Amino acid sequence: MGRRVLYAVFFLFRASLLLHQSCCSRSFRTSTSEATRRRNSWMPTSLSLSDDDYSSLFPNGTGVSRSDFPSDFLFGAITSAMKHEGAELVDGKSLNIWDQYARNVRGASLDGSIPGECGDNYYQYSEDHDLVVGLGMNAYRMSIAWSRIYPNSSGVVNQIAIEHYNKVIDDALDKGLELFVTLWTQDHPHYIDNTYMGPLNYTFVEDFVTYANTCFAAFGDRVKYWITFDEPNDYAGLAYATNQNPPGRCTSGIENYGKCWEGDSGTEPYTVGHHLLLAHAEAVNLYRTSYQESQNGSIGITLWHRWFEPLTNTSSDLAASQRATDFLLGWFLDPILYGDYPASMKEYAGDRLPEFSSEESAKLNGSIDFLGLNVITAFYAYEYDFYEEDYPNTTCYYLDPKAAMTGKSWFSSSILLDS
Ligand SMILES: *[C@@H]1O[C@H](CO)[C@@H](O)[C@H](O)[C@H]1NC(C)=O
Ligand SMILES: *[C@@H]1O[C@H](CO)[C@@H](O)[C@H](O)[C@H]1NC(C)=O
Ligand SMILES: *[C@@H]1O[C@H](CO)[C@@H](O)[C@H](O)[C@H]1NC(C)=O
Ligand SMILES: *[C@@H]1O[C@H](CO)[C@@H](O)[C@H](O)[C@H]1NC(C)=O
Ligand SMILES: *[C@@H]1O[C@H](CO)[C@@H](O)[C@H](O)[C@H]1NC(C)=O
Ligand SMILES: *[C@@H]1O[C@H](CO)[C@@H](O)[C@H](O)[C@H]1NC(C)=O
Ligand SMILES: *[C@@H]1O[C@H](CO)[C@@H](O)[C@H](O)[C@H]1NC(C)=O
Repeated sequence: MGRRVLYAVFFLFRASLLLHQSCCSRSFRTSTSEATRRRNSWMPTSLSLSDDDYSSLFPNGTGVSRSDFPSDFLFGAITSAMKHEGAELVDGKSLNIWDQYARNVRGASLDGSIPGECGDNYYQYSEDHDLVVGLGMNAYRMSIAWSRIYPNSSGVVNQIAIEHYNKVIDDALDKGLELFVTLWTQDHPHYIDNTYMGPLNYTFVEDFVTYANTCFAAFGDRVKYWITFDEPNDYAGLAYATNQNPPGRCTSGIENYGKCWEGDSGTEPYTVGHHLLLAHAEAVNLYRTSYQESQNGSIGITLWHRWFEPLTNTSSDLAASQRATDFLLGWFLDPILYGDYPASMKEYAGDRLPEFSSEESAKLNGSIDFLGLNVITAFYAYEYDFYEEDYPNTTCYYLDPKAAMTGKSWFSSSILLDS
């Protein structure tokens, strides 16, 4: 099937980046309650956007205009169910892993707020679509909440959720927005973590495919761009190596946010990454074999990346920045494009990195029609052996590449998204 090349830029806006900084997004002002706006008042004013900034895609004085881009270039805005919907336990939805974590882990969000009270997109989706159109944008990326579609382990679909997303999708399309729909944004239902340890267990792959199948069948007649996972590479490390995202597992001594009671930072991120990759491959395989021809859509994944520039031109720093890239982006992109992990990961993580069977490798190989890349910042990278210098008696995904970043290790700077 011939496909046009697609270029798109999506604006996340600042505060939708990380719940640790503020769970409340300012990307959609009408969705944000007055209380939320007051809570955000700690933000430096230099980072605040004025009303004028919301009225145009290219505010006066930026030196850029729409006509600098091809007419089919897409400009869009993003919401995710977990950060923007609100309506936490409304219409049958159950808690997702972030809902659970933000309630129970002190410091999970700076101001103690929980995702469910941050946005109001569940009720104000139509106004939000108007805002996107009003900015001069022509695309919109949203996500579906797994914990609405399957709120419990009964296997019964919540029809109220299906009806809700039907309305949201129809409204966005009616307004002329090119729609991208993500199935997972770190927001699988809490019962999945609670009953079988979530993506540490292969059962996660089967449950994700069941959920994806339900979404393809219900919405695929209208959704032309599906995204399986959003930033799974970011999540597997933050959630299973350094206790920064739910479920907050890590090796004792590695944690950044309070004590870890359980976990293994040297193996669990790789196990989780492996299962997320397999879940992606199985969902794509299902879409391609059962839906793609009749629904004429495409499917991809969104990965998180930072650019690593070698600090010096020594061969060791050049190799270290390549390894840092391999461990962050290549970890997922190499299997998806070539069917196997990068050679440097196999060498540096050794047998802690799982292997793909030949059948799994074949399913992964070429399993995207398009790639989403979230790139927010860049670092200088240099060779540094944490195991020799600082952590002689442990293993950790973030330490394995033996690459550090200027002033800070990759390890500790992983929390400084937009500093
Ligand atoms: C931006 O430029 C437009 C057209 O030049 C002008 O009409 C508008 O008033 C300007 N807006 C601001 C906020 O300066
Ligand atoms: C599980 O979810 C389904 C679908 O929403 C619902 O019909 C059912 O009542 C729920 N079961 C329990 C025990 O809450
Ligand atoms: C994975 O989950 C299933 C339930 O779906 C359970 O029977 C099995 O013991 C779990 N495996 C591990 C390794 O926890
Ligand atoms: C399939 O989608 C492409 C855009 O991806 C569009 O150009 C084409 O007209 C569609 N074909 C049908 C039969 O809908
Ligand atoms: C490394 O080499 C490139 C190409 O020769 C050069 O552009 C760059 O400035 C050098 N970087 C450093 C840090 O010396
Ligand atoms: C991936 O697919 C390409 C082209 O289809 C093929 O040449 C390559 O051998 C495959 N790789 C693996 C690991 O199967
Ligand atoms: C690492 O383990 C060795 C051997 O058990 C021990 O002698 C050493 O003190 C440990 N180092 C640290 C930093 O804990």
